[in-house]
Amino acid sequence: MPKAIKKKYISFILNGVNYEEEVDDRILLSDFIRINLGMTGTNIGCEHGICGSCTIHINGRAVRSCLSLAVEIDNCKVSTIEGISKKNQNLSIIQKNFKQYFALQCGFCTPGIIMTLSDYLYRNKNASEKQIKDVISGHLCRCTGYSSIIKAAIQSAKEINNNV
Ligand code: FES
Ligand code: FES
Repeated sequence: MPKAIKKKYISFILNGVNYEEEVDDRILLSDFIRINLGMTGTNIGCEHGICGSCTIHINGRAVRSCLSLAVEIDNCKVSTIEGISKKNQNLSIIQKNFKQYFALQCGFCTPGIIMTLSDYLYRNKNASEKQIKDVISGHLCRCTGYSSIIKAAIQSAKEINNNV
């Protein structure tokens, strides 16, 4: 007999805004973000933790939202690609360089890669090219062949290190 869905109240901060929501205890965080909260910048590809397109930040760390439940963000600080720009207006350093280096085509993978880099590059100020490639290797892109993404990431690392 299928287990009954239970509801739970959770409170969290998403992109700087306080939320209190009633959620099904088994809804995936990726679905909750897109369907309930309307943050459709978070894309869903594989739903198995492989493609990286659903990556968001929970308490500042990159997390695959398709592998989490919505109830797990209770009392957490969450960011999606919609909240990554400076004051939600200007492009972040990484977004600016993705634009500059034409590091996207269809853009499906882009929010997830930017969320991963936004976590990693600010925590690892002197990341090498190999480390950056290793981090990006956790994301699948069907369009760009990765070289423009890597160039944008390396330039972003330089600017973040120099506090440009
Ligand atoms: S949709 Fe989450 S890793 Fe692919
Ligand atoms: S730009 Fe199309 S999947 Fe990466």
